Amino acid sequence: MKILLTGPPGAGKGSQSERLVKEFGLTSISTGEMFREAYKNNEKLGIEAMKYINKGELVDDDITNEIVRKRLSKKDAESRFLLDGYPRTVAQAKALDQMLSDMNSSLDAVIKIVVDKQVILERMVGRRVCKQCGQTYHLSFKPPKVEGVCDKCGGTLHQRPDDQLESVLNRLEIYESKTKPLIDYYDSRGIFRSVNGDQSFDEVYAAIKKALEDVI
Ligand code: AP5
Ligand code: MG
Repeated sequence: MKILLTGPPGAGKGSQSERLVKEFGLTSISTGEMFREAYKNNEKLGIEAMKYINKGELVDDDITNEIVRKRLSKKDAESRFLLDGYPRTVAQAKALDQMLSDMNSSLDAVIKIVVDKQVILERMVGRRVCKQCGQTYHLSFKPPKVEGVCDKCGGTLHQRPDDQLESVLNRLEIYESKTKPLIDYYDSRGIFRSVNGDQSFDEVYAAIKKALEDVI
């Protein structure tokens, strides 16, 4: 099972990916998470990438393709993985095709989580993330048991720097111009499906599972 979750920033890719990965034993490959992890570990790649991320810009295609290439070459990504937020440009999609074809492999399904702008803004403003383990919360829709403290590891919750309004608006614009064209790219192959992301966490999850019925 090799799937890609796409959709605008704040659509719920990370939230849904967490459950899919657990239930189906998939390897999670999120380029956003990989960049944040590299930054946390003070790696050059992370420090460089964060300059773009904080402004809401995309990280360079070559850099992004390279970290995915390395991750896909590991044993645990051989046959079961979930890509979250990669590819995000047609150039990245072509690079991914090449990587997979080199491994005699291909994507089974591409799921887009559809959410409109107003809902996205509400989700981004209220999102809080654990500094230590990266677990995601929402002040209204998924609050932690104790304010400001991660339920999972006790770490401190903070707002992602790229969740400031200016950066979010930039990310939305970039999504429209650079990432949306991927829909046609994958639709022409018959592997594209979209689900309504403006429902409860459980309802979105059920819709994704239904859309994946033939590949599960
Ligand atoms: P990335 O971390 O992937 O950010 P993103 O795509 O903008 O998506 P988000 O993580 O912000 O949102 P999400 O869809 O995961 O939503 P979530 O589940 O958290 O990338 C960050 C940056 O890295 C990019 O901007 C770019 O700079 C760089 N980058 C990454 N990949 C790249 C690539 N391939 N190429 C170049 N650059 C790249 O949910 C959001 C909030 O809503 C949460 O608070 C959650 O609790 C809440 N929520 C979710 N679902 C629901 C629901 N159903 N009901 C109520 N609340 C909900
Ligand atoms: Mg995410």
